[in-house]
Amino acid sequence: MGRVRKSMCGKTDFNLVGPEGEPPFGEPERQYYFMEKCRRWTDAFEKNNGRRPTANVTTFGCQMNARDSEKLAGVLQNAGYLLTEEENADFVIFNTCTVRDNANQRVYGRLGELNGYKRRNPKMKIALCGCMMQEPEVIEKLKKSYGFVDLIFGTHNLYKFAELLWTALVSERMVIDIWKETDRIVEELPVKRKYPFKSGINIMFGCDNFCSYCIVPYVRGRERSREPKEILREIEKLAADGVVEVMLLGQNVNSYGKNLDNPLTFAQLLKEVERVPGIQRIRFMTSHPKDLSDELIQTMKASKKICRHLHLPLQSGSDRILRQMNRRYTRDQYLELVRRIRREIPDIAITTDLIVGFPGETPEDLEQTIDMVRRVGYDNAFTFIYSKRTGTPAAAMENQVPKEQVQEGFDRLLKTVQETAAEQAAKLKGRVLDALIEEVNESSPGFVTGRLSNNRIVHVPGDASLVGKILDVSLEECHGFYYTGRLT
Ligand code: SAH
Ligand code: SF4
Ligand code: F3S
Repeated sequence: MGRVRKSMCGKTDFNLVGPEGEPPFGEPERQYYFMEKCRRWTDAFEKNNGRRPTANVTTFGCQMNARDSEKLAGVLQNAGYLLTEEENADFVIFNTCTVRDNANQRVYGRLGELNGYKRRNPKMKIALCGCMMQEPEVIEKLKKSYGFVDLIFGTHNLYKFAELLWTALVSERMVIDIWKETDRIVEELPVKRKYPFKSGINIMFGCDNFCSYCIVPYVRGRERSREPKEILREIEKLAADGVVEVMLLGQNVNSYGKNLDNPLTFAQLLKEVERVPGIQRIRFMTSHPKDLSDELIQTMKASKKICRHLHLPLQSGSDRILRQMNRRYTRDQYLELVRRIRREIPDIAITTDLIVGFPGETPEDLEQTIDMVRRVGYDNAFTFIYSKRTGTPAAAMENQVPKEQVQEGFDRLLKTVQETAAEQAAKLKGRVLDALIEEVNESSPGFVTGRLSNNRIVHVPGDASLVGKILDVSLEECHGFYYTGRLT
């Protein structure tokens, strides 16, 4: 390619000096080539401006998006940007979520603010990526009303970020690159972790479950598992870099490995992860109740490292609604599963996700959900008001429930969840358990915040030197969702 002196729209940009030669075709080499090009661009920026350019990554949505954002940050740092929490940066990227409409509305609102910054700093570049970008209507709207956005890409080509970043730097127009699908998994790209001592790890991508309300299978594509040796290599590297806790991530980890050339169960993968020296705690998200095996329960029971926490989304307690949701279990099957889990692992914390206001939901259906919350005795639950997602089967169902009708039931459900959560938490009072100290408590100086194996939070007196350590704490007082205590 030689020296790059023309931007895509034909304007000459004298900052641009690329590495010699053509970009390689193989990945990830190709991305490292573009990172190097961007690095030369940011070096030139520093020469001209007396400072390095800044970059901000803002994440919406789930743990998987958070992990993707660490990859975006890794590329930006490698490309020579100074990462900042400030949204008024030279390069800003929003990694978006579209699971519920309010996530989308927040993105549009924040974009308005970014436009204000860009007016004052016209060289600022604004990028959007993630799940929301996989929806064609969103792209149309952005093209029509948000012309100040510089770069748009989706979930399937995130690995190409370095190349896209370069294209955006040398282009004056909106660059859009959205793929419908991919079966590709690119390994070995740089990552900038948020925490030095714990990390998420993707073990699979996409989802094949097609719950009728959910947009994730449409925006994240078909289920694909990573090769176990790649996962283990990544975890070994993390352990060598000081990570003590890993969270294995997938939309439905219980179906991990089914489609690999050499199939492997999730429980088998967990056993391999358990063997990695240095890793002291293993978490995972999310488990679909229909696929949770006895092998997994036994593996958890026998493990010294797998945390005593299971996030087991129920969604609804009504069999009729569960069927309409295409969840493929009944309330009795779910209760039986919970019984089996509790029998084998009595100290386990179970949390869940619940949706209120699914099409056709009656007050009786909601009562069934509230009843399930009491029966299971959840340690915590994320409660959501149903949000209609274009293109999903539920969006086409008749009898959508008006939002006003939902609020009262939602509040009642929330209250029940708070009650069971407080009851479960209170059971641990007086115990001594190990906690991973995660951060200095910002609101009460002299305190640090730790996380128990069962995912509960405990505040104990301490300082920054404890962060990243797993220490025994006595749980003295329970305050609903969290504890206060002290180191033993
Ligand atoms: N794969 C995970 C969930 C991913 S989405 C699982 O199956 O458990 C996280 C949660 O968002 C879901 O569990 C569900 O409770 C909620 N959710 C998904 N689509 C929704 C919608 N259209 N309206 C409201 N909540 C929704
Ligand atoms: Fe959505 Fe269901 Fe897949 Fe979870 S399992 S991501 S709720 S379709
Ligand atoms: Fe949202 Fe995408 Fe996660 S839609 S919940 S960020 S997979």
